[in-house]
Amino acid sequence: MIIEFLRNPKNTGSVISSSQFLVQEMISHISPEGTIIELGAGSGVITRKLATIQSVDTIYTYENNPIFHKSLLKIDKTICVSDLFTMKERHQHQKVKTIISSIPFVNFSTTTKAKALSDMSTVLDHGGKLIQYTYLNRCPFGAENLEQNKLILTKVKKVWLNIPPATVFVYEKNDNL
Ligand SMILES: C[S@@+](CC[C@H](N)C(=O)[O-])C[C@H]1O[C@@H](n2cnc3c(N)ncnc32)[C@H](O)[C@@H]1O
Repeated sequence: MIIEFLRNPKNTGSVISSSQFLVQEMISHISPEGTIIELGAGSGVITRKLATIQSVDTIYTYENNPIFHKSLLKIDKTICVSDLFTMKERHQHQKVKTIISSIPFVNFSTTTKAKALSDMSTVLDHGGKLIQYTYLNRCPFGAENLEQNKLILTKVKKVWLNIPPATVFVYEKNDNL
């Protein structure tokens, strides 16, 4: 992770992998059935934990740095794909219950972030969750953008035992908005 951070800090977003405390907090919000989409899987610290959950049958790991694919492919139940912007086409008719994301959205332009949020909303089912962490205290997405995409912020939790400390945001898709 350190080498990839030095090579491309904006894309990698972190010097070291998430702590087990952060992984546990992220995982505690998933709907543990069927297919899970993981964005920005890195070397698979969250993926490996997801794969141990019996009711999870498939994990689509979106990771745009091919260096990480080798370790992701070794993890049970994993289908390893590339850029998150290929997600919409693959899953838009499937309607998934959980997207768990480590994508460093703070480094994205406003337009790219808006496109990503729209794609994530398209593939999420009514009641489905988007779980995202960031190293900042504030929500990575704007209120207006969230509303347009029928996403409601339902939980915010600070995880101090991570380097650096992180905040987990949980959003729920509500088609009735
Ligand atoms: C902060 S790391 C998270 C790694 C791991 N999930 C963790 O929590 O330790 C973010 C990851 O997102 C990946 N990433 C950044 N932009 C991406 C994109 N557009 N599509 C897919 N992956 C992306 C980076 O390559 C990096 O591995």
